[in-house]
Amino acid sequence: MTFRIPLLAALSVMALFSVVSSTVLAHAAESAPDPATGPLATPEFGPVPYDPAHDYYSFADIDAFVTEHLVLDLAVNFPARALSGTATLRLRPVDANARTVRLDTRDLVIESAAVRPAGGSFRPADHRYGRRHALLGQELVVELPEGFEPEGPFELAIRYRTSPGASALQWLPPELTSGGHHPLVFSQSQAIHARSWVPLQDTPAVRFTYEATVRTPEHMIAVMSANNDPEAARDGEYHFEMPQPIPSYLLAIAAGNLVFAPIGEDTGVYAEPELLEASAWEFAGTQDMLDLAEKRYGPYDWGRYDLLILPPAFPYGGMENPRLSFITPSVLAGDRSLVSLIAHELAHSWSGNLVTNRTWRDIWLNEGTTSYLTARLMEELYGKDRADEERVLDWNGLQADVDTVPARFQALAADVLPSDGEGPQQSMYYAKGQFFLEHLEEQFGRERFDPFITSWFETFSWQSVTTETFLDYLDEHLLRAYPGIYTREQAAEWLYGPGVPADAVAPTSATLEASTAAALGFASGETALADLDTGAWSPQATVNFIERLPAGLSTERLAAADEHFGFSASRNAEIARAWYIQVAKRRYLPAYPAMEDHLARHGRMKLIVPVYQALAENGEDTALSHRLFNERRGRYHPITVAAIEKAFVRAAAPVAP
Ligand code: BES
Ligand code: ZN
Repeated sequence: MTFRIPLLAALSVMALFSVVSSTVLAHAAESAPDPATGPLATPEFGPVPYDPAHDYYSFADIDAFVTEHLVLDLAVNFPARALSGTATLRLRPVDANARTVRLDTRDLVIESAAVRPAGGSFRPADHRYGRRHALLGQELVVELPEGFEPEGPFELAIRYRTSPGASALQWLPPELTSGGHHPLVFSQSQAIHARSWVPLQDTPAVRFTYEATVRTPEHMIAVMSANNDPEAARDGEYHFEMPQPIPSYLLAIAAGNLVFAPIGEDTGVYAEPELLEASAWEFAGTQDMLDLAEKRYGPYDWGRYDLLILPPAFPYGGMENPRLSFITPSVLAGDRSLVSLIAHELAHSWSGNLVTNRTWRDIWLNEGTTSYLTARLMEELYGKDRADEERVLDWNGLQADVDTVPARFQALAADVLPSDGEGPQQSMYYAKGQFFLEHLEEQFGRERFDPFITSWFETFSWQSVTTETFLDYLDEHLLRAYPGIYTREQAAEWLYGPGVPADAVAPTSATLEASTAAALGFASGETALADLDTGAWSPQATVNFIERLPAGLSTERLAAADEHFGFSASRNAEIARAWYIQVAKRRYLPAYPAMEDHLARHGRMKLIVPVYQALAENGEDTALSHRLFNERRGRYHPITVAAIEKAFVRAAAPVAP
């Protein structure tokens, strides 16, 4: 499916792992010349040239100390909309002379800081807020007390509480849950929101294990990206351990009236009681997906794999929190037609969670590789036709991005700085990364490419890596292992150049071609809808039909299509999304009431941000779009609110591509 979400990025200096060869940088400079680029450095964020090993999205100084382990002790306070308690970081000195610990925070109230050496006792440590940045939050600076000379790892304990507006957290009142009786809270840490609920080194370059004690109101349960126990007594106190080292963006928590149902041996689903049965049915194939992924890509080293089905306010489709993917209820289509989202979040267990992007500049390594794996899993489990339908929709989305995203953001590894904000560039990295890997697969054949990908995961397990590490590994283990097929320069064109290289072959799907032909035939008046055999179409074919309707189609024809297919009544979120984008773009007023319902029913960004944007950009409905948003903003997650506001700003002042 076409994918459009804004992404916030994150980061840190890691000279330790600096693997960038000068030839790569030289090539990058040659292959992506872009006169519109302008200087990369801003007064706040140097240096020039861009350093791919440096995380520009974090204040942490990971050349001084790195986090090894985190202990959380938190109380969930619904009336105050706050988490409060202690975060204790075990820090390992990297630079023996360093005396200052720099952490990331956003809107946290810090009550105290104390340090103790291994086996010793706590001593208060001076702390203050440091640099502040609209996107990055606020640096927390802790000074090691005089005479504190740790020989090795030591603990830093911080007492704190979150603010009600914490960007990662959404505090849902009972009326925004399915049950309507209990409040619910959940986190979304990726990309740089973990710092709004835990003071920490918020960069994917650092991995740590964690344990947590979470106190909730009685009868609620808390779950985390850790070893959830479906059998735990509901006594309001829950313990978690995550023995595998994870980057901070995979820290996750939720608490509410949640229940559990098993799916398979190692898989299950958590949801509010009202959604449990439907969720267990929709995602019954999860165990098969897990078994297949292990067979293809190596052992699943995380223990269980469960799903948490959240209320509609969850801002994403899914989030690959380890052991417990967080999932939007908008994929409960009732026909299992949208389960590629589960394959995607599961596949992140390898691409992202096991082998992690070193900074957000390398996000294609997470999302592009995952999109590639998703298509492979879907193909094997549901057949090539279905996988190809999704490939074609993704390819079409990529072409649209190539036409609209500023050229300097089009490289897979684009030199993006926080001053660029959440640019319009982020959605490219999914499909362009996927088609880059499919292109390589095509050149070398699956019999060579599959072992290459599996060995990539094995070699870099539990590590954070840059694009340059990937390119070097690719060069050595595929390109030079089978010489004469594909060059490093060709690969670098995907990684560092704009657009899609000319030798890429577009995917095809016979069923989507039929749907495109139907859309064009219907639009020109050649074909009557009644003569089309649309009953057996997949939702993907229907989405394609909607997206292929030519501009300038008359209101009567839009009405006929709506009537025939029942777009405005569709409960399939992807069909609804495609339809309401067109409704807003074309100002098809008869469907405005249904569109307004859609904007209230869903909180997932992909389903609503483009609709608001299309309204704001259609030349007539700016005021309406603002009014609809203001009426609904209380239902949306802070990340979604920020994304819609950003879309409005973009609509008011479009950026030239
Ligand atoms: N990890 C992403 C979500 C994300 C990306 C959050 C970047 C913050 C910053 C997740 O795996 C994802 O890609 N979700 C998609 C799934 C879709 C592509 C199948 C979504 O939310 O729609
Ligand atoms: Zn993803």
